[in-house]
Amino acid sequence: MSTPASAWLKTDAPRTDALTEAHLREFAAEVCADLSKPQKELHSKYLYDELGSALFEAITRLPEYGLTRADERLLSSHARDIAQVIPAPAAVIELGSGTGEKTRHILEAFTISRSKVRYVPIDVSPKALARCQQDLADVAEVYPLAQSYLDGMASAVGRRPAEQPLLILFLGSTIGNFERLRAVDFLQALRRSLRPGDALLIGADLVKDRDQMLRAYDDPIGLTAAFNLNLLGRINRELGGNFDLRNFQHEARWNEAERRVEMHLRSRVDQTAFIVEADLTVQFQAGETIWTESSHKFELDELCEMAGRTGFRVQAQWVDPDWPFVESLWVAH
Ligand code: AVJ
Repeated sequence: MSTPASAWLKTDAPRTDALTEAHLREFAAEVCADLSKPQKELHSKYLYDELGSALFEAITRLPEYGLTRADERLLSSHARDIAQVIPAPAAVIELGSGTGEKTRHILEAFTISRSKVRYVPIDVSPKALARCQQDLADVAEVYPLAQSYLDGMASAVGRRPAEQPLLILFLGSTIGNFERLRAVDFLQALRRSLRPGDALLIGADLVKDRDQMLRAYDDPIGLTAAFNLNLLGRINRELGGNFDLRNFQHEARWNEAERRVEMHLRSRVDQTAFIVEADLTVQFQAGETIWTESSHKFELDELCEMAGRTGFRVQAQWVDPDWPFVESLWVAH
């Protein structure tokens, strides 16, 4: 007997994008700790407030940033191949769905004679989830979860039916934002929430020409600079900071040893900033940077090795010929 979806997919109503009191305190505490490190840093997840998300969306249309288009091309051309390997999933669960637009191809491929597939987008942005729910209602039964990835997974798998596999989507090279060792920890934790036979489709940006990678993170019209600087703007708005954004400069660096593009904000002058809600005074020397994001780039055999180390076998993979990017389909064993 299969459990009705309404029983095992508990869903919380998306409301607003404003950080709750508890989230704000966590944001303040993290900012305080991270700006007190010798190499100052800020967590990249905070790049995505309303303005930051709109800027990222604009970045995905830049000629220099081929990543998202490669992801979309691969999903639209191989959705049927994917659906052939993973028959009739109990649900498609997406980690970091955003508005879920590129997922449409996959969901359509699983629509069997007008019976819609169950789709569980997990994202920290309730606004993005609300849009996702609206936009994809024609192709799926959408059960959004406004939670962190692993908390969302725990809610989604709680009372899953036994007979059918789950398909987890982790697209857009979001895996690249984790330090390599943390990525393995994360995938192992994800694997623990799954059963043998469940599938994971993971999208990852591949190592390519150095200048091509750098241009993607330092575009000539300054969208990526705005995206990066907005993180300080957000701290000013939400935590009562007084950063003068004109005194910081966007920088993209290729870190060869770690195979990643790093974004930094370089202080143009000696300066001091205050953040009221974090009760923090920060001093900057001219030239010093705040490290705001890492985008790791992968090799194909490295991904296969990661699958092996985290309890999956690689079932299939597809690489875009124009912008080296891979969709890798893993099955839990
Ligand atoms: C959404 C995390 C995949 O790392 O390429 C785009 C974010 N940062 N430009 C990436 C991003 C700067 C993006 N990810």
